[in-house]
Amino acid sequence: MSNTIVIFGASGDLTSRKLIPALYQLHAKGRLPENTRIVGVSRSPFEHDEWRASLRETTSKFAGKSFSSAKWDTFAPSVFYQSGDIKDAASFQSLSDFLTEIEGGKTTGRVYYLSTMPQLYATAVEQLGAAGLASEENGTRRVIIEKPFGTDLKTAKELNASIHNVFDEEQIYRIDHYLGKETVQNIFALRFANSIFEPLWNRNYVDHIQITVAEEVVIGRRAGYYDTSGILRDMFQNHILQLMMITAMEPPARYDGTMVRDEKVKVLHAMRKMTGGDFASQTIRGQYRGYLEEEGVPPGSQTATYAALKLYCDNWRWRGVPFYLRSGKGMSCRTTQIVIQFKNVPHMMFGDKSRVPMGNRLVMQVQPAEGIQLHFETKVPDAGMKTRTSHLDFNFQDSIGGDALPDAYQRLLLDAVQGDASLFARGDEVELAWGIIDPILEAWNSPAAPPLLQYETGLWGPTEASEWMYNQKREWFDVCP
Ligand code: BG6
Repeated sequence: MSNTIVIFGASGDLTSRKLIPALYQLHAKGRLPENTRIVGVSRSPFEHDEWRASLRETTSKFAGKSFSSAKWDTFAPSVFYQSGDIKDAASFQSLSDFLTEIEGGKTTGRVYYLSTMPQLYATAVEQLGAAGLASEENGTRRVIIEKPFGTDLKTAKELNASIHNVFDEEQIYRIDHYLGKETVQNIFALRFANSIFEPLWNRNYVDHIQITVAEEVVIGRRAGYYDTSGILRDMFQNHILQLMMITAMEPPARYDGTMVRDEKVKVLHAMRKMTGGDFASQTIRGQYRGYLEEEGVPPGSQTATYAALKLYCDNWRWRGVPFYLRSGKGMSCRTTQIVIQFKNVPHMMFGDKSRVPMGNRLVMQVQPAEGIQLHFETKVPDAGMKTRTSHLDFNFQDSIGGDALPDAYQRLLLDAVQGDASLFARGDEVELAWGIIDPILEAWNSPAAPPLLQYETGLWGPTEASEWMYNQKREWFDVCP
């Protein structure tokens, strides 16, 4: 069956930076199903050729050295543009006519990609329904929705309800680009395609788990969005909880959309609710020095640009094992890593007995140095029985030669076209994730909020966050790849 991908918000940054380059790469690799058309929709007036020419320029820039003019020339004729306004019903009628025309009235699967302002998601879906564009009489109809999916539990539920008025859950693909990253998918492989790690992956052997998403960048020109969002909404409700779910979930019986997501959702159900003093003892919030001077940030803003949370997953596997999640802007370097810290040996008989070797850890480097390291204690040569931490290193990049790892959007777009929703968030999953973040946001807005700690950029967040770990006889794995 042929396909049409309709991108709403076609003149936006995401379309030129990520979506079109990803579709072009899929085409260049021969992965895009034959007869796939791409239709961009936004308010600006463009001729098809004008849009193609501007995309050619941006794609050659963002696709990097793999860009080939000859391949672009075979891709460009399948790209079209239709101007239209999401608030205007007539625009959807014209779009419907245009799609029928280019599809020649043949049975065609369609994917509608909402890359518009989030405030327009519900309206866009309603208009698709009203114009008959969601009906599956003439092929499958799917909708991809970008983040943020709501701004809290209430708005996420409202958004789910309005989308469900038009599309069934099976037709909805809520995107979280972290799930499209090769190294995130590799967590499934590491855990469930090996027998050596799984027996250790539980409360009997694991002391704690750390998930860090550090970014060197600050908010730049994004104050309008960021100041109302902050780090919890921007990174935790989606990306970081996704990493946590995949790290903590039970093995599904089959790798399919329903079973994988059933297991992920069970993790969220098991998360212990914070109450009372927990918000002060288990959460840290910070703001980098200089945030208030960023263009567009309101005076005295209390928006957090750093957070560290200590969460517990109360189930048979993880009871009592803390999950430390942290993320911040203006940190020491860009790194996303998951550290499985194993327990110490029960009795250390070698070397400096006062030294606590936290040596047994598995580090999954999600980016930018994609790989896996296993840390363990070894004997220092020619030094009696002194030990030190050594590691085995696996590097993803080396294993695929010189080629760059594919961008997350390639995998996600292809999966949506092919109807595989395993790497997309389900409605209940998104709501449960908000159910974890909402109480923290509320506590942070209350008089009992923990202090908003200031931190210098270029370091690892507030120094108090290191002391907090130290007081728990643990330490952050502050290592730049
Ligand atoms: C986005 C956030 O979802 O993810 C940004 O809105 C953040 O603030 C970005 O910078 C990080 O994505 P990546 O793929 O660069 O780690």
